[in-house]
Amino acid sequence: MAVQLTLLNDPDRVINVASVKHRSPFRYPGGKTWLVPRIFAWIGARHRPHSFIEPFAGGGIVGLTVAFENLADHVTLVELDNQVAAVWKTIITQGEGEWLAERIERFDLTIKNVNQILERKDLETREKAFQTLLQNRTAHGGILAPGAGLLKYGENGKGIASRWYPQTLAKRIREINSIRDRLSFIHGDAFEVISENDSPDTTFFIDPPYTAGSKRAGSRLYTHFEVNHERLFSILEKTTADFLLTYDNDDYVKKLATKHGLEFVEIAMQNTHLTKMTELLINRNLDWAI
Ligand SMILES: C[S@@+](CC[C@H](N)C(=O)[O-])C[C@H]1O[C@@H](n2cnc3c(N)ncnc32)[C@H](O)[C@@H]1O
Repeated sequence: MAVQLTLLNDPDRVINVASVKHRSPFRYPGGKTWLVPRIFAWIGARHRPHSFIEPFAGGGIVGLTVAFENLADHVTLVELDNQVAAVWKTIITQGEGEWLAERIERFDLTIKNVNQILERKDLETREKAFQTLLQNRTAHGGILAPGAGLLKYGENGKGIASRWYPQTLAKRIREINSIRDRLSFIHGDAFEVISENDSPDTTFFIDPPYTAGSKRAGSRLYTHFEVNHERLFSILEKTTADFLLTYDNDDYVKKLATKHGLEFVEIAMQNTHLTKMTELLINRNLDWAI
């Protein structure tokens, strides 16, 4: 999807991010592909990080881009969700990534076959990874949280197949697997990882779940959607690590940022459907962003 990005305080400055390479196997609600050009600006204004960590990774597009573009010595993705974790673990394990790519290429996508896979329980990690990607690409909005229905009509009337691109998915998986020596995954809690990696050699990109006050309020985008935002800001205020935080544009978040001595800027994003959204970028110093 072609996306344009503007800074609200400079609406004439539009960055066309249609050329941003899609690296993630997930279609992720709240995915940050559109933010990638600003990530380049942010990292470019700093010393090369030794360790780049994405603690609420989801589809992990920012961490993946940093790893592929070799912008840090090592990248770590962190995610609490079991299903998402199964995918990352499988992709970055030698042999398993190739198994997943081939499983996807060979799958015959019919409603019956999809339902048969989605009903399965107690799967080993790699089968769970396949089930997760299948669900992610056949459910409304890519939502993995309980309650999301299958795409009935999908795009162009193609139903459940409208987002299933086996060759593309397999290629992305093989590409990620090929850089596994500079990519790690932790199935764990973002708060613990942030606290354990309090070091000037570390850089965090932090994109926590947040729905309060937004149009998506009340909807379940993620299985793990509850985060203590006050606690997150308190930890970040004290950390010696560098970080960039993104949030929904919400007054409560702006107040938290101000209370903890951080700067914020509203950025606007417009997609090809001309839907305008704004989000907040929060940092100790936003000189690089404006
Ligand atoms: C807004 S999404 C991240 C989207 C991501 N930036 C992308 O581009 O795809 C937030 C993610 O944080 C995860 N999450 C929630 N609580 C967590 C926690 N305590 N530790 C680690 N991950 C958590 C959710 O499962 C969800 O995948």
